[in-house]
Amino acid sequence: MTDAAFEIAFKNVFGRAPEGAWSAPGRVNLIGEHTDYNDGHVMPFALPHATRAAVARRDDGVLRLHSANMEGEEGGVVELRIADLAPGTTGGWARYPAAVLWTLREAGYPIGGADIHYDSTVPVGGGLSSSAALQVVTALALTELHGVQGVSRQELALLCQSSENTYVGAPVGVMDQTASACCTEGHALHLDVRGLAQRQVPFDLAAEGLRLLVCDTRVKHAHADGAYGELRAGCEAAAAALGLTALRDVDFDGLDAALAALPDDRLRRLTRHVVTENHRVEEVLELLDAGRTREIGPVLTAGHASLRDDFQVSCPELDLVADTALAAGALGARMTGGGFGGSVIVLVEEADETAVAAAVAEALPQVRQFATVPGPGAHRLW
Ligand code: GLA
Repeated sequence: MTDAAFEIAFKNVFGRAPEGAWSAPGRVNLIGEHTDYNDGHVMPFALPHATRAAVARRDDGVLRLHSANMEGEEGGVVELRIADLAPGTTGGWARYPAAVLWTLREAGYPIGGADIHYDSTVPVGGGLSSSAALQVVTALALTELHGVQGVSRQELALLCQSSENTYVGAPVGVMDQTASACCTEGHALHLDVRGLAQRQVPFDLAAEGLRLLVCDTRVKHAHADGAYGELRAGCEAAAAALGLTALRDVDFDGLDAALAALPDDRLRRLTRHVVTENHRVEEVLELLDAGRTREIGPVLTAGHASLRDDFQVSCPELDLVADTALAAGALGARMTGGGFGGSVIVLVEEADETAVAAAVAEALPQVRQFATVPGPGAHRLW
């Protein structure tokens, strides 16, 4: 939909003109999975798929939300009084923007009411951070529109993460929101979560004759939400058993000694994944810096094996897609995001793209696939 059509859509819903429009992308994570809440390393990049928000302020303490993507039960305008917002009280998709507004106000920012109309091209439920895109576009629009100065993109991402932790009740790390807020076109973002140092790493696949496919399995296994919290708690228990602040503090070279010091197999598996995965981020970083992009393939594949066998967050559909892609000639394949469904990323030679995509589609007919490149992070449209 063009900018003009998007503006008209806002007018059709709210009967007046928007003051501006913003966009924030979904992401894929290239490498560094379940490392963010262990103070570790991640390397996501922004998808060209994004959520847009057209916004106009209100001065009556009311937040009205509408999404072009929601139909049926969740369709129509959701109207909330800001004074009534409280953690755990808002249901459905509207809890994400409500959480952001509540969190910004709790942090002391003078954010008032608004009418917001959204649309999105980020596949929902694909493990591609559609909720982070929704949070970040809301936070950016509300802060800019209300003239809030001096909030960095990283702080904005932290506020969005906090909104999900506190208001929505999901104990997520900060990767997805940081990716949506801070990524830049043509780059993957290396984020060291301890200290939050960022580096934009050039990631130009086309120049190297490569393609990255995103294969959304369109499955999400029911226990995904509870399992995430249990895994996070397990990692924290392992760090505590080792007398460390976080599993980040286990050196790759000291892994065997750390494993020997842990009391049970589950904690050993979780620790082995986190420590080897942090190492894989460093390996990918070095390879990209050296212009040896093809060689990241086996590192991605090793990441999948670790998520499947040690962290145990894969599922049959993700494994099927990754294995099929590799058997059809892909350079590397791994699940991306939290797991238990969602998407696989596949690195292929340009010449092999069609054959690999066809093999995946044959193995899992429901799959939704697209080739992608790193798109821009969140920004104002007009
Ligand atoms: C989800 C969370 C992130 C991160 C990933 C796993 O996407 O939102 O913070 O933990 O899972 O890497």
